[in-house]
Amino acid sequence: MNAILDEHIRTLAAWLKETTRGVAFSGAGISTESGIPDFRSPGGVWSRHQPVMYQDFLTDPAERRRYWQIRKESIPSFLSAEPNAGHLALAKLEDQGHLAAVVTQNIDELHQRAGSRRVLEVHGTAMKVHCLECDKRFPCEAIQDRLEAGEEDICCDDCGGIVKSMTVSFGQQLPAAVWMESEQLCRQCDLFMALGSSLVVYPAAGLPETAKRRGAKLVIVNRDSTPLDDLADLVIHGSIGETLSAVLKVMGQADSR
Ligand code: APR
Repeated sequence: MNAILDEHIRTLAAWLKETTRGVAFSGAGISTESGIPDFRSPGGVWSRHQPVMYQDFLTDPAERRRYWQIRKESIPSFLSAEPNAGHLALAKLEDQGHLAAVVTQNIDELHQRAGSRRVLEVHGTAMKVHCLECDKRFPCEAIQDRLEAGEEDICCDDCGGIVKSMTVSFGQQLPAAVWMESEQLCRQCDLFMALGSSLVVYPAAGLPETAKRRGAKLVIVNRDSTPLDDLADLVIHGSIGETLSAVLKVMGQADSR
């Protein structure tokens, strides 16, 4: 590992050791090492599809069919994914009392499966599917079976209502309680780590700015550069799994001395 990266790892380890109010803010980049493609890297989801707008999903059967086609293609990687070193490191940092919560833009529930207890899903979850009319819940596997059996638009088999995964689509309101709690965490934290996000989608990408404005140290770990790199106190361009594993190792060494 080169000297500069080594120095950055040591700095982040020191900052994490001294905080009890850290916040991790994750994007799709933390899940690529679990086999789930991100959105804006080359070959990412939006290089193959246009997002379906919420209003169009509700009113246009053709857009609803396109929504289910995108899900039919993407959900198998979610169903086979396992948490990776990055997710596990965040769960450990919460256990050690350094992280207050994970605020995630991700919809794969890998943070919860890694053992993180306080996870705020500002963009909802693809792992839960419900009827918009009667709120009946549908297992992901059952929905995938129906799509693979040729159904192109999923309707509720109880009330005939429109069914949708519990993600936040473009044009849809973020869950108010989750958003308010996330904003409050960002105002109160003294260390904010943005992990695997291109930081281009608002209002979520405003959270790092809120934290920084309120005096927190801002750390960005991302393979590519982001629009907030110049605002950050520390930027590490590299793999999240490798970076967080190296940070935990340095923190452990400091303990054992
Ligand atoms: N390690 C570090 N960084 C990575 C890794 C990795 N293993 N894999 C990908 N990245 C980085 C990429 O360089 C990219 O900048 O993660 C970032 C992912 O950015 P996006 O694909 O834009 O994902 P995200 O920021 O989460 O998107 C935000 O946009 O489409 C909406 O609702 C969707 O929640 C999503 C939101």
